[in-house]
Formats: sequence, C-alpha cells, structure tokens
Amino acid sequence: QKIELSIDEIDKCGYEHFMLKEIHEQPHTISDTFRGRISMDQSNLFLGGITDVLPRLVQARRIIIIACGTSWHAGLVGEYLFEEYARIPVEVEYASEFRYRNPVIYADDVIIAISQSGETADTLAAIKMAKESGALILGVCNVAGSSIARETDAGVYTHAGIEIGVASTKAFTSQVTVLMMMAFLLGKKRNLISQEAYEELIAGLTQIPDKIQEILSDEQYIKGIGETYKDATNALYLGRGNLYPVALEGALKLKEISYIHAEGYPAAEMKHGPIALIDENMPVFIIATKDKSYEKIVSNIQEVKARNGKVIAVVTKGDDVIVKMADHVIEVPECHEALAPLVTIIPLQIISYYIAVLRGCNVDQPRNLAKSVTVE
Ligand code: G6P
Repeated sequence: QKIELSIDEIDKCGYEHFMLKEIHEQPHTISDTFRGRISMDQSNLFLGGITDVLPRLVQARRIIIIACGTSWHAGLVGEYLFEEYARIPVEVEYASEFRYRNPVIYADDVIIAISQSGETADTLAAIKMAKESGALILGVCNVAGSSIARETDAGVYTHAGIEIGVASTKAFTSQVTVLMMMAFLLGKKRNLISQEAYEELIAGLTQIPDKIQEILSDEQYIKGIGETYKDATNALYLGRGNLYPVALEGALKLKEISYIHAEGYPAAEMKHGPIALIDENMPVFIIATKDKSYEKIVSNIQEVKARNGKVIAVVTKGDDVIVKMADHVIEVPECHEALAPLVTIIPLQIISYYIAVLRGCNVDQPRNLAKSVTVE
C-alpha cells in the first residue's frame, strides 16, 4: 500500500528546517534500522530480507557496491567493513560509470545497490545491466516498493522514514547501519569473528543512538564553531580508514547546502596536492577519533598547523593531545572503531547546517539539486 503525502502535510515538529529535524531524528532512525534485527539477548543478527539468499552472499567471490552521491559514501564505509570483518573483496562504483563501462561481473559476485529513494536512474540502469551476468543483486533502499527495491533479487530496507531535506542525513546513517549489520553477520557466518567479538559489535551498535543524543546536546557549541567559519570560501575534510568516507560526506554536506567549495581527502593524500592550498584562511576538518591510525592523524594535524591552517578536529571524548594543537575540538563519545562513522558524521552534519543557515541559504532545497535524480 502506497501513501501519498505532500511536503506541506509533513510536520517539521517545531524545527526550522526538515534537515535539522532529520539530523535530530537519527537516534531514533538508527534504532528503527536495527530494531527487530537483533536477537533479544544481543547474540545474533537477523536480516529477514536476505535470509533466503544468505548462502550465496556468504560464498560471494566479490561484492560490488553501486550507488550515487551520499549513498556512494555509505558504500565506501561498507567496503571497509566487508573487507575487515567478512574478508570479501569489495569494489565501490559510481553507478553512472559502472553502467557505461564494460565491467567484468562474475555469476558468483554479489551486487549491492544502495539508494535512499530507490529511483536514481543511473543506479537502476546499472542493476538492470548487471542482472544479465547472473550475479545476485541486493538492494539497500529507504523507500519501500521503489523501483530499485523491486528490481533487486532481495534486500534490506533502511527504515529511516521519509527524508525531505535534499541533503541526506538520516538516510546515510541508516544505510551505514545496514551495511554494518551485513558485514558483522557475514563475518560470523564465515567464521572469521568469534561469538564474543560479534556480541561486542552488536552491543556497540545498540549504544550508538545514546551516543548520538549526547553529541546533539552539544549543538549550540557546534553552531558556534560554524559561526567562525561561515565566510570561508573553501574547506578541506580529512579522515583515514573508515573515516575517510566520513570526510567525503562531511565535505559534500557543506558544499550542497552552503555552496562553500569543500573537498574530502584521505588524510595521507593531503601532501599530494591539497596541502598547497592551506593557509590561514583554510578551515580543515579532521576526523581524529582514537583508532589504529590515531598517531598518523595527529601528525597530519601538525602538518596543517605548520602551514597556519585552521583545524577543527572531531576527537574522542577526553582526548588531551589534539586539544592542545587544534583550533577547535568537537568531542564524540568513545565507541568501537567499526562504528565510528555513525557518530563522527553527526557534528559535520550540524556544522554544515548552521553554516548554510547563517549564509541565508535554502537548506532544505539547495539550488540546482534534486532529492531524487530520475534522469541521467
Ligand atoms: C541526489 C540527492 C543525494 C543522494 C543522491 C543519490 O543527488 O540529492 O542526496 O545521495 O541523489 O540518491 P539515492 O536516492 O539513490 O540515494
């Protein structure tokens, strides 16, 4: 059954914009994504939509993720997770490039199409093309009954609810949540993670909504940082490992709604180009939570500071090293390294939102952008 609603009929619930409402909904939408998919004793995951095809997924020779925009960034987080936990090689492709190449697809590959709307023309065309190869095609969609959801063999819905803001926020964190669950489940089925480690990951995931709530309570502080940089003309976002896609997504949020030129980079790539741009006018957002690349990211911060760049660092609560080096720090609660993308993206969404509002931009409907791109 399909319910048609006009935007005016959907309530902003007292928020000034849909985007802000959707940012605030994330503790709930992420719970909605994992609700019913975690056993009561938190010892196992169930993904009903792919149960029947799970044996093929467990045996996959390779996973090819196809998507556009923010969904492609979620796919990059997925790549890291599938390789780390399930040891399956992954390629993440822009649907528009994939469909016009002559890609090599094996019948024992698994294609995962990620799409909030389920209607993106390039993603839909890419899966139609991939079908001919005989590979299993899965969907990670938000809109139930959408074209991509119907065209795929099976899939997992994100359950983030209707997203109105053109710049995706809650759909992204729900997509990442689904990919996390898929990767942990596959790792367990392939006997690559112990029951103990599996339960630790599941428990960690269930704690994410409260951690996001904690970050949201710092909204005014984060807004204040946005005020400092609202007149910037450029911004750089850096991260490593599974936080590199967060850097890309942070940069995309800023450019989409504030029209400030922003680029995301893997932090170590900075010295191969973007470092030339750094001066006292360049804000550099660095995702620097405590993980295995912490020491490396600390030296990246030093490199930026040595060139007088302004560093806004997203750090783990209680960090006493970066606080002395960065111009601003935004603390996020400690969490399992695998789950860090879910918490670190939140302050970047908030800062983009406030910068755009302070610049007088139309946050929910930025110029030239569409929520659903149904033409190529
Ligand atoms: C458009 C939207 C983006 C979205 C992208 C992919 O560009 O403005 O927010 O990430 O399409 O959309 P999809 O619905 O396939 O996730």
